[in-house]
Amino acid sequence: MSRRLADKTALITGSSRGIGRATALAFAKEGAALIGVHYTANPEAAEATVRDVEALGVKAVAVRADLRQGKDAADSLWAQFSEAAQSHTGAAALDILVNNAGIAPALPLKDTSEAAFDEVMTINYKAPFFLIQAVADHLRNNGRIINISTGFTRIAAPTHPAYAASKGALETLTLALAPEFATRGITVNAVMPGVTETDMNAAWLASPDVRAGAEALSVFSRVGTAADVADVIAFLASNDARWTTGQIIDATGGARI
Ligand SMILES: NC(=O)c1ccc[n+]([C@@H]2O[C@H](COP(=O)([O-])OP(=O)(O)OC[C@H]3O[C@@H](n4cnc5c(N)ncnc54)[C@H](OP(=O)(O)O)[C@@H]3O)[C@@H](O)[C@H]2O)c1
Repeated sequence: MSRRLADKTALITGSSRGIGRATALAFAKEGAALIGVHYTANPEAAEATVRDVEALGVKAVAVRADLRQGKDAADSLWAQFSEAAQSHTGAAALDILVNNAGIAPALPLKDTSEAAFDEVMTINYKAPFFLIQAVADHLRNNGRIINISTGFTRIAAPTHPAYAASKGALETLTLALAPEFATRGITVNAVMPGVTETDMNAAWLASPDVRAGAEALSVFSRVGTAADVADVIAFLASNDARWTTGQIIDATGGARI
């Protein structure tokens, strides 16, 4: 086991399931000190992630916040996690924030209600914005902010225009914030997954024709696993990626290159 994240405190939104859960496990394998497992609707899944992280010898704590509540949720999430960090590590401080939680409703332009638009923008863009604001002064020097985007910012997605645009905003935020955080050696990057085998698209991928189409997008002719994406996130979180900031890192398996 390498220990590239030894002594690091990490908070990963949406780590009860999918890419966030795989990221928590990847960080645990790299020897992190404490991992915040954020969730909203699935406490059992969050507790399972906590147990699996702790089985790797790393402390973990589940924290609940519904990101549909925007800034209030971001502030509550940090308040809960900073208290846990204080009690587990002796400091209400953070090394790595991964803004991973997200929703991806398949709603073409004509079917997108204002409520659906507001929900996707709040969870995918507004909440990460205010969570970064909430943790900014508590991020240690040489820390990491990693925002999870989507390949739909590079490949046109008429099926998901509001979702794609919410992630486009998150990518622009990534670039905009990188200089400010660089003064403390903190990098700010985004990771762009392609079609990844998680609950988010399990129903969609159950159709053999759809699955074949999704596999054909990647030059590796398969759908990605959550671990494929999590390993890229773990690299960005490590000191090995100290010279990379303000970037969108493609983790789509070479989709439509
Ligand atoms: N899967 C893909 O093919 C794919 C492709 C490109 C980009 N992405 C992006 O990768 C990220 C992770 O996706 P995934 O596939 O791992 O998703 P997933 O399996 O559906 O898991 C979503 C996670 O986000 C949390 N979440 C959902 N709504 C929330 C809310 N209102 N407040 C707080 N947390 C909430 C869920 O918590 P609960 O367990 O409590 O519900 C869960 O932990 C997302 O940002 C997604 O847009 C995914």
